[in-house]
Amino acid sequence: MDLKNKLMLVTGASSGIGATTAKLAAQKGARIILVARSKDKLEQVADEIRSGGGQAYTFAVDLTDPQAVFAMEKAISADIGTPDVLFNNAGSSRWLYTDETSPDEAAQMIAAPYLAAFYVTRAFRPAMLKRNSGLIINMTSIAAFMSWPGATAYTAARFSIRGFNEGLRADLYRTKVHSMLTAFAAVKSEYWKNNPGSQARIPGAQKMIPTLTPEQAAQAIINGIHWNLPVVFAPWMMWVVLTLNYLFPPITRWLVFNTGHKRNLANT
Ligand SMILES: NC(=O)c1ccc[n+]([C@@H]2O[C@H](COP(=O)([O-])OP(=O)(O)OC[C@H]3O[C@@H](n4cnc5c(N)ncnc54)[C@H](OP(=O)(O)O)[C@@H]3O)[C@@H](O)[C@H]2O)c1
Repeated sequence: MDLKNKLMLVTGASSGIGATTAKLAAQKGARIILVARSKDKLEQVADEIRSGGGQAYTFAVDLTDPQAVFAMEKAISADIGTPDVLFNNAGSSRWLYTDETSPDEAAQMIAAPYLAAFYVTRAFRPAMLKRNSGLIINMTSIAAFMSWPGATAYTAARFSIRGFNEGLRADLYRTKVHSMLTAFAAVKSEYWKNNPGSQARIPGAQKMIPTLTPEQAAQAIINGIHWNLPVVFAPWMMWVVLTLNYLFPPITRWLVFNTGHKRNLANT
């Protein structure tokens, strides 16, 4: 898809991968709807886009609230239009063992990313299908394909996005609305500050996969949109690791579990 004059809605657009992808898509000529909870940060991103000659609209919405998403859709459809691209990117999750995760936090980890992506897609899907064009991008992580110690609910949340994308792919078969799964290993964003303690649990084996900058992650997403790819993995080393994991799962498990976070079970 050529992004020129297209309308792209980006969730989680107040920082990191979402903000950087929004700015890059604006440079390609897309009009951008920026969504996240932090109004001030959204306005900063919008100002950057506008000062570069682009068009941006901001919606400060907690996407885990279905009524708020419903109201956002009504306002966008009435005043701006039907998005050509939905980028379901908003999410947060600390990497914790099951017993370290409160029931509230476990529910929050499913609420964003998964339910947020579900609500946003459910809101805009009818108009996209009526027009019979568009792209729904679902952001997940390498954790949707392989797991490591000390990040149980995070892993489940990331698998849920992959499952959602697979279900959508089946639903959208024979239509011109497509879905795309994007999955990265580590990206050097605010994520690690926003989810304290997680970085220390990155398994040593993951050093095989170079860390992306938000700009590299955004470029991979823009390339995926340009080439109509069904899946985007970056960097390329992720393809190697995921192929190894697909063919020989005991080997990757051995590597990741042995270099992953170790816990003194006597203290649990
Ligand atoms: N960084 C990595 O290594 C990495 C790797 C693979 C995948 N990912 C995934 O990529 C996505 C973006 O991550 P990032 O690295 O850019 O992290 P980030 O800088 O922490 O960005 C997360 C974004 O999600 C928004 N958000 C969180 N909860 C929300 C809610 N309830 N409603 C609306 N917006 C919400 C945040 O904005 P507000 O706080 O303003 O609402 C923020 O804009 C996340 O889903 C993350 O899990 C990250």
